[in-house]
Amino acid sequence: MTKKKTTAIVLAAGLGTRMKSALPKVLHPLAGRPMIGHLMETLEIAGFDKTVVVTASGMDDVAAAVGPHPCVIQQEQLGTAHAVLAARDHLDGFDGEVVVLYGDTPLITVETLHALLAARRGPDNPAVVVLGFRPDDAGAYGRLILDQGGHLNAIVEAREATDGQLKIDLCNSGVMALDGAVLLGILNRIGNDNAKGEYYLTDAVALAREDGRTCAYVEGDVSELTGVNSRAELAVAEEIVQERLRASAMANGATLLDPKTVWFSFDTRLGRDVTIGPNVFFGPGVVVADNVEVRAFSHLEGATLEEGAVVGPFARLRPGARVGKDARVGNFVEVKNATIETGAKVNHLSYVGDARVGAKANIGAGTITCNYDGFSKSHTDIGAGAFIGSNTALVAPVSVGDGAIIGAGSVIAEDVGVDSVALTRATHKEVKGGAKRIRNRKTREKGKS
Ligand code: UD1
Ligand code: MG
Repeated sequence: MTKKKTTAIVLAAGLGTRMKSALPKVLHPLAGRPMIGHLMETLEIAGFDKTVVVTASGMDDVAAAVGPHPCVIQQEQLGTAHAVLAARDHLDGFDGEVVVLYGDTPLITVETLHALLAARRGPDNPAVVVLGFRPDDAGAYGRLILDQGGHLNAIVEAREATDGQLKIDLCNSGVMALDGAVLLGILNRIGNDNAKGEYYLTDAVALAREDGRTCAYVEGDVSELTGVNSRAELAVAEEIVQERLRASAMANGATLLDPKTVWFSFDTRLGRDVTIGPNVFFGPGVVVADNVEVRAFSHLEGATLEEGAVVGPFARLRPGARVGKDARVGNFVEVKNATIETGAKVNHLSYVGDARVGAKANIGAGTITCNYDGFSKSHTDIGAGAFIGSNTALVAPVSVGDGAIIGAGSVIAEDVGVDSVALTRATHKEVKGGAKRIRNRKTREKGKS
């Protein structure tokens, strides 16, 4: 038997009014990526041959986010069955499996999708297999109505349900697999004579049963089927995604000292024997090699940490930061678009932007690369083994040669040669006994008044 082709239809035309946002709901991020992006990746890994996204008109940014997958536009939001029909051109003549999902329910796993497809291909060839779940509060979810033998007979929307049906805790997650050979025929027969005046996809079950076909359900975990309708639910979904990312980081050989306080991005890459302290935040685009330590309260995005690097506590690594092998970036140090080469140290209270810090150079506390003159950015180049004294301002563009020493408190606006010493400090003046004289005079003056 040849494997049936699979098409996923992702419904995303809803306005998401409860988000109270100018951004379409499915573009709100989870772990630094639009929620629909998580779903698209899961569908790709699950091996779907085609994924079609249903959007409303004006949602060009959603189309851009899911590209190169095709989008179709549902002109008016007349219900979930009507939304699937917007993808009619992709379903016409297709007799494989069709799985309908929601863009705002992005946490489903590959395993669950495979279980759903396996059930659809079961021996009694069910026309519809619904992914059911048992939420804590069944509330407004559609209820799955089973027959004596435990087969799915119908889905009743909460608004239409009797008091008895409302007591059923097995609910419709919205995800369902359908036999593509009969899907369009069924969808065309779905009407809108119901409480919401909408075309309910859920009616497909009862219609398939009328046609003498069986229907079935598989049960999924609540954590995979939580939908996002509000900012509060977005936070719940984020926590679920973070739990998964933390578990996978630890399974792959990272130690998280306080896992619940570490926040990852969908694309964070960690090597082995990495230790992450409490309250560390990874924005997008961070790559961490083996044996790196990221200490407490550090904030990283777009940064690369090479083997043996130690950063933090309280380090801020911004896009383009590269911390080389065994290099150190300490507390209250901000690094942006700069490379700290092998074994170099920037340990305290510094800003290093648009710069190279050569191997084994030592950057003193409070050093600032003055990379921006209000109009454009310039580069600072610090050679290998250079020593930059504390509280130095390096006014870019400027370079400090290998092995050079800069005296503390300097403002360096000209290039410094290899092995030179440079300092711009004002000359030291001291008046012996002067302080005592001032104190005596002031005390006398105060005594008179
Ligand atoms: C739907 C199900 C309900 C299920 C619940 C799970 C129906 C009739 N009901 O109800 O059984 O328990 O989801 O969350 O299917 N959408 C469109 N175009 C439309 C209408 C909806 O794209 O015209 C999209 C929405 O963006 C959303 C999804 O379909 O992602 C579900 O729509 P929604 O209106 O939230 O359906 P529910 O009433 O929650
Ligand atoms: Mg809903």
